[in-house]
Amino acid sequence: MKIKSICCIGAGYVGGPTMSVIAQKNPNIKVTVVDLNSKRIADWNSKDLTKLPIYEPGLDEVVAEARGRNLFFSTEVDAAIVDAEMIFISVNTPTKTYGAGKGMAADLKYVELCARQIAKVSITDKIVVEKSTLPVKTAEAIQNILDNTGNGVDFQILSNPEFLAEGTAMRDLAIPDRVLIGGDSNTKKGQKAIQALVDVYRSWVPKENILTTNIWSSELSKLTANAFLAQRVSSINSLSELCEATGANVQEVAKAIGMDSRIGPKFLQASVGFGGSCFQKDILNLVYIAKSLGLNEVADYWHQVILMNNHQRDRFAKNIIKTLYSTVNGKTIAFLGWAFKKDTNDTRESAAIYVADLLMDEQATIKVYDPKVNATQMQSDLNYLNSRSEDKNVAYLKTESNPYMAMEGAHAIAVLTEWDEFKTYDWQRIYNSMQKPAFVFDGRNVLDREVLEKIGFEYKEIGS
Ligand SMILES: NC(=O)c1ccc[n+]([C@@H]2O[C@H](COP(=O)([O-])OP(=O)(O)OC[C@H]3O[C@@H](n4cnc5c(N)ncnc54)[C@H](O)[C@@H]3O)[C@@H](O)[C@H]2O)c1
Repeated sequence: MKIKSICCIGAGYVGGPTMSVIAQKNPNIKVTVVDLNSKRIADWNSKDLTKLPIYEPGLDEVVAEARGRNLFFSTEVDAAIVDAEMIFISVNTPTKTYGAGKGMAADLKYVELCARQIAKVSITDKIVVEKSTLPVKTAEAIQNILDNTGNGVDFQILSNPEFLAEGTAMRDLAIPDRVLIGGDSNTKKGQKAIQALVDVYRSWVPKENILTTNIWSSELSKLTANAFLAQRVSSINSLSELCEATGANVQEVAKAIGMDSRIGPKFLQASVGFGGSCFQKDILNLVYIAKSLGLNEVADYWHQVILMNNHQRDRFAKNIIKTLYSTVNGKTIAFLGWAFKKDTNDTRESAAIYVADLLMDEQATIKVYDPKVNATQMQSDLNYLNSRSEDKNVAYLKTESNPYMAMEGAHAIAVLTEWDEFKTYDWQRIYNSMQKPAFVFDGRNVLDREVLEKIGFEYKEIGS
């Protein structure tokens, strides 16, 4: 069975880039990405490619190539479902903020709504693909909903978790380490569905990089991959504190251990902590699943990864306060970066939000520059924490569109995102414009200590 028409529900950080690449590599498949958020869809359809709702290097070129040819963005969810042979569910699965599992479990209401909508409007057989990151066994719930509320058509469920990393999404999609497809290989229909999805990816992914498994292994592998990645960050961050207390240097330690081929050098960069919409949410979900199954030691083991990350952010903010003579009241701290990592405009769970919040509790003024994040987003991130009134957030946090303006007159600079452009600034000019002593707290260990110290900065990095 060769798929001719795909619908993707959810035009976010995963749905948008993923479907753009599927459409680019499969010009014969019509790919329609739908979303309830009409502003987001309008932005995806914007003629001006700098207005796409997601910033990802190289995304604009792929959209330019495929959009209007076989890639479409629309708010007409029902029509796209009816038209498609294969439907990807790529909606958000945030941590629950209410009821059982509050603060831990994944909130599956958006996924369930999609399943009900697919069941309601489908009048031909469909292959339904879980693209969102979901708790193990969710496919069973989706199958139940589809079978019990549908119109008697056949639904095959596949799990196809997405492993792209924001900032490098286009490269990750073009040359994936692996594509994982979980399905029911015990039935003929299941086998056909798996093959249909394999064929979509085979347009550009080598056969040996497409892995097929049972559906539960696929669902669990995504949570596990994120847990392992986050665990490495928390591991090196825990050692950064030990380095600071002993005179060791975490970058030297990371290099020394990373040269061991069994350990490897990646994801060993000490920092103010990980952010992003996935690591924390997925680990909390893993912890919740383990707890629900009575596996308390497993739950505690993974929970520590989150606790360490929270500690690292706190420690960074407290270190700023302590170094600035134990008071930041009335002082200005310039933030370089607000996004959770470079080359994305995504700010979800960014360390910057939490560090700003702690400093604002101490009545510091924060002036932020980020090349891709605007003031509205920053205020909305702070308001989401609900720590103080919206007016106070506006009063204490200013956004600057020019980095030099953000740092002018500041008592200290905190680097929260590793944007490459920060390294290219005229640091002498910045030093001249700041209060003295001029401090730099490098939360990403990306600036050049030697250069900054030569100019006269008090340079503090993580883990030394
Ligand atoms: N962001 C990442 O780097 C990443 C990587 C891998 C996996 N994931 C997973 O992919 C999923 C999506 O993540 P994201 O970052 O793209 O989220 P997102 O919030 O950017 O996008 C989700 C979109 O789904 C839309 N939506 C929700 N319910 C809908 C409905 N019923 N009908 C139509 N549209 C609906 C929302 O309006 C939103 O635009 C999550 O499960 C996430 O864990 C994310």
